[in-house]
Amino acid sequence: MRGRLQQLLRRTKRNLAEFKELGGYSEIYKYSIEKNDEFWEKLARSRLLWEKDFTEVSDSSFKDGRISWFADGQLNVFDNCVTRHLADRGDQAALIYEKDEPGNEEIVTYAQLHSLVNRFANVLKSKGVKKGDRVAIYYPVSPLGVAAMLACAKIGAIHSVVFAGFSADALRQRIIDADCRVVICADGTYRGGRYINLKSVVDEAIENLDLVETVLVGTRNAEAKKLTTEKDVDLDLALAAAPENCLSEPMNAEDPLFLLYTSGSTGKPKGLVHSQAGYLLYAAVTTSAVFDCEPGDRFGCVADIGWITGHTYTVYGPLANGATSLLFESIPSYPDPGRYWATVDKHKLTQFYGAPTAYRSLLRHGDEFIEKYDRSSLKRIGSVGEPINTEAWEWLHHKVGSSKVPIADTWWQTETGGNMITPVPCDAGASFKPGSAQRPFYGIEPVLKNADGNTVQGNSVDGALCIAKPWPGIARTIHGDHERFRNVYLNVFDDVYTTGDGAHRDQDGEYTITGRMDDVINVSGHRLGTAEIEDCLTQLDFISEAAVIGIPEATKGEVPYAFVILKEGVEENSEHKLLANKHVAKVIAKFAVPKDTIIVSGLPKTRSGKIMRRILRKLASSEAKDFAQIAPELGDISTLAEPEVVEEIFLKKCQS
Ligand code: PRX
Repeated sequence: MRGRLQQLLRRTKRNLAEFKELGGYSEIYKYSIEKNDEFWEKLARSRLLWEKDFTEVSDSSFKDGRISWFADGQLNVFDNCVTRHLADRGDQAALIYEKDEPGNEEIVTYAQLHSLVNRFANVLKSKGVKKGDRVAIYYPVSPLGVAAMLACAKIGAIHSVVFAGFSADALRQRIIDADCRVVICADGTYRGGRYINLKSVVDEAIENLDLVETVLVGTRNAEAKKLTTEKDVDLDLALAAAPENCLSEPMNAEDPLFLLYTSGSTGKPKGLVHSQAGYLLYAAVTTSAVFDCEPGDRFGCVADIGWITGHTYTVYGPLANGATSLLFESIPSYPDPGRYWATVDKHKLTQFYGAPTAYRSLLRHGDEFIEKYDRSSLKRIGSVGEPINTEAWEWLHHKVGSSKVPIADTWWQTETGGNMITPVPCDAGASFKPGSAQRPFYGIEPVLKNADGNTVQGNSVDGALCIAKPWPGIARTIHGDHERFRNVYLNVFDDVYTTGDGAHRDQDGEYTITGRMDDVINVSGHRLGTAEIEDCLTQLDFISEAAVIGIPEATKGEVPYAFVILKEGVEENSEHKLLANKHVAKVIAKFAVPKDTIIVSGLPKTRSGKIMRRILRKLASSEAKDFAQIAPELGDISTLAEPEVVEEIFLKKCQS
């Protein structure tokens, strides 16, 4: 693969023009680690527009739970993403809104986006939103969804986007946790030709919730009834009436820009807090260097704005680089499995960034869905959210990318703000390894730890993946719970950030992610804590205990699978499973519903009461029809408190 890619990869150097005199990736990487502050200082000055210059680069200590970058500087994120492009590219498209139904896209130029966000910011102000207030956004990918985020950034309000696929209960929990007085939503959205009502979810979420004073409702379907309560305000009318002029709030570099909830290994989702300057810098620099993104590029990240990928690579990264960002409302298979490539062709996209689960679902269809479209505009194809299997990687590279486009398998997390380990940028002629994220981004120093907390040295080794040095894009805290932030990420091992993932460092010193080491699973790239689903199941009055695990699934990567014990005196009946599924969909989301729920009388526990999930995983994913077949794979179960439950669980599973 070397020769073919050299030409394309040479471009990488241009993207960190600040350091081109140093050489290629290896030299710049070395410098970024050895002169870490100098490296980020230079980029902060060349890539961001400051209202007030900073004098201090970083003051961070993982040990003390303190992360701080450019602390005495001030800037405004909206001005960095939109206002500063007006002079050179006011008439250039900032957003291409590719709606669900093909053929009726909308273009929003930088000048139009500027005007829209200014008016939006004035609407927010008129509803009493001030700097530091939290605003909930339950909006599908759309210009108004993006404008809602940017309007918050403009006036210094902190947005909390909740993925518009989460249930009413999940939305309510997040509104309460972040103390949001204003909610912004659309009447609904379309996915694969189907209308999904979002306003009714918001109505249910805020029922009897005095905290919420205003719901700003935008239009997606003009026929839909969008104003249903006295708190509702017609967003379109309010925007039309709002003045165009609005001053941007100068923000301290370390002020929060947004909260984004994600799942962890305990039941309660964590509202991760990202900063203004550090986050924006990291978003801008990774977008530029990993994706070779230049001003005027047409960046196609198909992630929803409800996830970190949508925040960083649909909104902030591309706009900070003066690119045009694609907003993709639809699904990969609508109206047929060629939709992604039709979109690449139509808009001459220069980058395409999606998830392995979607790629896997598409590769089963014929090559004609790819070949009939021109994909020669693509410079990079990205993959994110879960490991990409070799088959999907080869398909992307050879079929979609005609063996010419480098695949950026980007490993990162909600907590990290942007790409952390990825094959690009790299030196010209570097090798690519399907399924391996390979090389750390500039300034990122991975370390592997063993169970004793010691750093694993050398190559061809495994360990818990940690990061040695703070970087500007790392989340600063968990909203309202800094102790939890420190305990989960900073105090697991001494003086490093702990990612929760395991990794293998191969013979070349490059990294392959081996999966989560905690009870977090990844369903179609959606991160879920199994404890969240367990908490939800045990809320039901007929369930006393639940154990949820993830098992491999061909398209979704993983799916949840549940084992539950009924309360004493409750007779098992056929309704139980249905009620359990309905409840999970209501409390969390449809994608969290277990593939199966097996009712058992006991769980495999150690004598100290810890559930042996490893055994449950084996039982759930086994094809065996006879216990004798699977028994050797289970290892020694004699140390369990009740070894006999294992066979019983197996038999129940076979019957279901
Ligand atoms: O386990 C890793 C997996 O997704 C987790 C982060 O999930 P989330 O915070 O929802 O962010 C997803 C988008 C950045 C990680 O801890 N993960 C993400 N990307 C990859 C991955 N696993 C393997 N390879 C990847 N490229």
